[in-house]
Amino acid sequence: MSTKTLHIDGDRLLTRLSELAKRGARDDGGCNRLAFTDADKEGRDLVTGWMRELGMAVSIDGIGNGVARRPGREEGPPVMIGSHIDTVRTGGRYDGNYGVLSGLEVVETLKDAGITTRRPLAVAFFSNEEGSRVAPDMMGSLVYVGGFGLEEAHAAVTIDGKRVGEELARIGYRGDAPTPGPVPYAYVELHIEQGPVLEAEGFRIGAVTGVQGISWTEVTVRGQSNHAGTTPMSYRHDAGYVAGEAAAFVRRLTKEMGGRQVGTVGSIVLEPNLVNVVAQKAVFTVDLRNTDEKLLQSAEARLDEFLGTIADAEAVEISTRRLARFEPVDFDPRMISLVEETARSLGATVMRLPAGAGHDAQMLARVCPAGMIFTPSVKGLSHNVREHTDPADLELGANVLLQTVLTLTETDPFKAASWRAS
Ligand code: GLV
Ligand code: MN
Ligand code: MN
Repeated sequence: MSTKTLHIDGDRLLTRLSELAKRGARDDGGCNRLAFTDADKEGRDLVTGWMRELGMAVSIDGIGNGVARRPGREEGPPVMIGSHIDTVRTGGRYDGNYGVLSGLEVVETLKDAGITTRRPLAVAFFSNEEGSRVAPDMMGSLVYVGGFGLEEAHAAVTIDGKRVGEELARIGYRGDAPTPGPVPYAYVELHIEQGPVLEAEGFRIGAVTGVQGISWTEVTVRGQSNHAGTTPMSYRHDAGYVAGEAAAFVRRLTKEMGGRQVGTVGSIVLEPNLVNVVAQKAVFTVDLRNTDEKLLQSAEARLDEFLGTIADAEAVEISTRRLARFEPVDFDPRMISLVEETARSLGATVMRLPAGAGHDAQMLARVCPAGMIFTPSVKGLSHNVREHTDPADLELGANVLLQTVLTLTETDPFKAASWRAS
């Protein structure tokens, strides 16, 4: 039978998405499966169970990445479909999960049709893609490609004071498959866009050109606590004020720089955090991103300069700690074209665009040709419990994934030119 007429089962995909969303379900309809928590374990148990039901051999490595394999007619490195199943605390049901469960849908569709692909297939979920409970983000895929040592990753401390290695052991996902992991033939990740562009421009599929650079910094300000009523303003060393000014500065900076510069102060924790006490300590985070490495560096330099100036002016002590730093990544042009042509062959409107969020694909791009397929996010909402994608778009995206993967398993798209490892 021609594989061109194969279709994934949209209802089955939606059912799996709903089942997974019950793990770590929030009362408001969202999902909370922060990495390495009990809810994350429940999600992992469900997904590895499905992988095994499909006859796949599942391995878990030392950072808890799960890789399920389906043999091909030939030996050799697999075409890997991957993403993540952890969420932020206020997550939806699609970010990451959609890519992994669509991978299972591809496998089940092939299984139902009695098709064994030429190259083997792998479906992977990578640990702690979100990085909200413990930095860096994309931790699992970074360890998988050898960009971060296992010991260092195990020693990382969560925002609730736990070590990653101990949390992994506690939830039963500190596996023994080696890291770095085996290099795939190619890697494809299907993901919701998480931004407004596809919807606003009227395209149903995005062929992702790359991922912007990410810079995460934790800033600690040490001032002096004092009485809010009796301390004249000129006597204050107010850590709370500095944190607020910094948040306003980050917004001003993005305005001045314009273009693709974005910046966020997403967490501010004050001590003692009381109405009538000048804060003695503030710990806040700064997330800066840009598709241009030089511009990202200049944003970082401007932040440093600002922190130096305000530390002097308020006579507080400021220290910084880098939580994550990744340069922008360009995907292999052949993968971008493949996604684009495949979408067109299915009658979909497709546009090229860069990814604004971090993705496991940017790590896999270090070792093999990697690409991403985007589907529209309604109103561009993500990292929000109201994250939504139209079911018809979810189905279309999974069909683009299926056909993209089949081209990668059945043909030799990279033969002509040698692969550029970055
Ligand atoms: C992680 O997915 C991020 O982009 O923050
Ligand atoms: Mn994601
Ligand atoms: Mn996310």
